[in-house]
Amino acid sequence: MKITLSPLTAVQVQADAIAVPMVAGRGLPNEVADLDRALGGLIAEIISRNEHRGRLMEIMPVHLGGQIPSRRLLLYGLGSLRDMDGQRMRWAHHELIRVARSYGYRTVAMAKAPPVDESNLAAVVEGSIMGTWEQRSRQSGQKDRAELEELILLGFGLDREREVVAAEQLGQATNRTREWVNLPPNVLTPDYLAEEARRIARRYELEIEVLGPEEIRAGGYNLLQAVAQGSSVPKGITFDSGGISLKKPEGMHRMKGDMAGAAAVLSAFEVIVSRRLPLDVMAVIASCENMPSGNSYKPGDTFTGAGGKTVEIVNTDAEGRLVLADAITHALRHGATHLVDLATLTGAATIAIGHAATAAVANDDALWARVWEAADRAGDRVWRLPIYADYSVLLQSRYADLKNADYGQAGSITGGMFIEQFVEGRPWVHLDIAASSWNDKGELTTIPRAPTGAGTRLCVHLAELMAAEAR
Ligand code: BES
Ligand code: ZN
Ligand code: MN
Repeated sequence: MKITLSPLTAVQVQADAIAVPMVAGRGLPNEVADLDRALGGLIAEIISRNEHRGRLMEIMPVHLGGQIPSRRLLLYGLGSLRDMDGQRMRWAHHELIRVARSYGYRTVAMAKAPPVDESNLAAVVEGSIMGTWEQRSRQSGQKDRAELEELILLGFGLDREREVVAAEQLGQATNRTREWVNLPPNVLTPDYLAEEARRIARRYELEIEVLGPEEIRAGGYNLLQAVAQGSSVPKGITFDSGGISLKKPEGMHRMKGDMAGAAAVLSAFEVIVSRRLPLDVMAVIASCENMPSGNSYKPGDTFTGAGGKTVEIVNTDAEGRLVLADAITHALRHGATHLVDLATLTGAATIAIGHAATAAVANDDALWARVWEAADRAGDRVWRLPIYADYSVLLQSRYADLKNADYGQAGSITGGMFIEQFVEGRPWVHLDIAASSWNDKGELTTIPRAPTGAGTRLCVHLAELMAAEAR
């Protein structure tokens, strides 16, 4: 898809559709007054008749009669100004492009009106690119939606190619994460993830280390090994059946997305290395399946993690924290000074916060402040939950240093606090993307359905912020 910064106006440009932003409760913005005049007051009339109310994700095609070179208007809602943020801005453009594609429009010109201004270039481009993602890549029939060929940006300035390219890259990286999350677990296996990582390493001439079963045993990564042992495939968790603590069948297929943390990290890592930031960044992915079999780890089993702590398994479905614990030890062994983990760790994240943001916990205010800033720049929301010392007793086991589940409350916090036990006091932020990485609540119409790519853009912005500070 081509993205063009154009000097033309909405009255001059020729596109399949001109997209005009609409805000709830406001009249015709000055910025589109010329366009409206050329159309004989059509937009103002639609607004005054309440045919379009400016609701977020409300999109209305308007047929034109040749008054201007473009064939259609596409009025798209941004909701009320007070609710606007970077995430809603991106999803609004995501939806705009999806709908444009459904109508078969191949060239879309973006008119600009508040709250969309020059400062939203990245959000507009990223959102639009994300709107080209297709979840149904595995359906064999005719495609429902056209491919967007050109996005024409009107009034965003002309000399901003580099920003456009950077935003395009972030949009595509988010889509890559979504695509990986969407791939079926018989295709996206731990080996597949490793092969993708090797591809990135070859392309950018990076160091890569892929540890197989032998190396995992030798390294003492017994928590990862324990989760993996029920699977015949050498996992992030590429499929989470729950293991012996088997999940209910309803919705189990969704657990193909239990490697969303791995996907976001790998996809962001590719962008980070392509930008050659002056920062040492290491991506650690602990990958296996969590399956029930005669060899599976069992409730009651106790293992010593690579960091030396013993963990009693109470529920084999709390596997994410186990593999993450060993992954963090691995990162520390290799010299990591700051830790950020992304994982679909707890269903409780959906209860506590829901699909609109990533649930976070952190042991360090300074690192958290950077993550917060990165999330804001990325339009990729995070919300910090507290760590309360009162809850550490819930992690205690009668047999081992820790137990992996059965805390009875505050599931996302205690899940994070379990991970904290392995960070050896290093600054650390834990991003629980269980809810934010996949929206399965149909009523939540202002958040795209299914994989969202949560965490991907955030990681890139975080690396950029940290690189800028390190200089
Ligand atoms: N991968 C799941 C968490 C999850 C749930 C992700 C729903 C996405 C959507 C994780 O491995 C899990 O099963 N967690 C358990 C932990 C519990 C046993 C302490 C959970 O949330 O029920
Ligand atoms: Zn899981
Ligand atoms: Mn699980």
